[in-house]
Amino acid sequence: MVRVNVRVVNTSITDVRSDVIIVNLFQGIAGPGAATGAVDRATGGAVSLAVQSGEFEGKLGETLVLRCAGAGIPKAIVVGLGPAAQFTAEKARRAADSAMRQASRMKARTVATIVHGAGIGGLDPEMCARATVEGSLLGAYNYAGFKAKAAEPGPSELLITELDSSKIGSVERGARTGAVMAEAVNLARDLVNAPANKMTPSMMAEAAQSVAQEAGLECRVLERQDMKQLGMGALLGVAQGSAEPPKMVVLKHQGSAGRPALALCGKGLTFDSGGISLKNRDGMELMKDDMAGGAAVIAAMKAIALLKPEVPVLGIVPCTENLPSGTALKPGDVISAMNGKTIEIISTDAEGRLILADAVAYAKSLGATHIVDVATLTGACFTALGDVYSGIVSNSDDLTARILDAAAVAGERFWRFPTAEEYEEKYKSDVADLKNAGDRGAGAITGGLIIGEFCKGSAWAHLDIAGTAFTSSEKGYQPKGATGVAVRTLAQLALDMGR
Ligand code: BES
Ligand code: MN
Ligand code: ZN
Repeated sequence: MVRVNVRVVNTSITDVRSDVIIVNLFQGIAGPGAATGAVDRATGGAVSLAVQSGEFEGKLGETLVLRCAGAGIPKAIVVGLGPAAQFTAEKARRAADSAMRQASRMKARTVATIVHGAGIGGLDPEMCARATVEGSLLGAYNYAGFKAKAAEPGPSELLITELDSSKIGSVERGARTGAVMAEAVNLARDLVNAPANKMTPSMMAEAAQSVAQEAGLECRVLERQDMKQLGMGALLGVAQGSAEPPKMVVLKHQGSAGRPALALCGKGLTFDSGGISLKNRDGMELMKDDMAGGAAVIAAMKAIALLKPEVPVLGIVPCTENLPSGTALKPGDVISAMNGKTIEIISTDAEGRLILADAVAYAKSLGATHIVDVATLTGACFTALGDVYSGIVSNSDDLTARILDAAAVAGERFWRFPTAEEYEEKYKSDVADLKNAGDRGAGAITGGLIIGEFCKGSAWAHLDIAGTAFTSSEKGYQPKGATGVAVRTLAQLALDMGR
């Protein structure tokens, strides 16, 4: 990931120095006003002409490139915002993304943009600025990878211009939040895109430690010895098949005392082969993404540390590999989690719930009142919701509502699965307190509910991102590969709880 430096300036966009300036136009507007009007005048009416001739309609994300827009403005992009009546923050993200990509294609290193949507009534300029920055930075993401030839660098500076000085405070706040959020998402993407041999449990713990140092979080990493002392038999069980030592990352944002305590627990499975219940070889390379929940927690904790909500937040990430070997866990084995509950292993491939069992139990033992776990947990969730929505399984209507509200602000999509006592029957065991996999049917629900068994008494929600963590095709401001899903929602949840 290449960092884009974001700055807000209180001036007219036609007065800034940058390689490219970005203005916008709603669909169906014949006579552009404000900044777009200024560019129109400077180019002898090129914008109006393009609209009149039908060359440019202002459809969402459509771009019109103009050259010699005025003194000191070599190039300008007009980006379409779609119909004004249907404008939302999400549309600002998509328009910003589209314009920024156009600027990249034009080899711009410095880009200036107006805030999309800030001029129209009803929309909060802070939210518009946030969305403009998020869309610009999220779409510009590129995984560096390991190729001999590095990719061409994209823009490294983004200037946000706002002429109206009464809005400048809001625009500054929004741009800051947007930059923090987008950078956190891009951090998660980098962690997830890294192959499993470059993102072992130890490396993941080191990444968390450097995040903690940079952003100002407390960080402790539990070693195998600590896990033994705490009785974390479920995490240790999964880890026993691998030569890589497991790590349990514990990050802490202090917040204020007397507040409910939020814990974010993320699955940090750096490679999931299935273990003795070995997966099919096809597409197994994608199982490097099985730590996407853990990456989302580490990245959200960074955003939380920078945005400083009042609520105390714990970030807990159990990290291990799931591999078959002579020492690996076997189907039929019985292990016990930190809270003393025993688990019969039906499938060693249902390992995420095992490592999260210890994580949520640990969160509860540390006093968390609200626990959210996030995991690439089940293929069944992908079957149900595809790569569009992430799943929620929760014991709390209130916490679910808060998560859905946060997601709406953040620009992400979640769908809650039903829970009913009958589903709990599916994971009853003959020999242990429960088994780690149910029979066929409702796999996303039983998988989630099994995690909830280890933090009973706390408000708890499980986010299944198995279908949404990684994408094989580019979608809007989501480039191919790791998506960084859940980072923005988790950080927003903390901001909302911290008000
Ligand atoms: N990491 C997988 C889930 C997964 C599948 C993530 C596809 C991303 C894409 C998880 O550990 C797993 O293997 N789950 C099993 C559970 C089953 C054995 C009960 C599954 O979904 O098949
Ligand atoms: Mn698995
Ligand atoms: Zn897994």
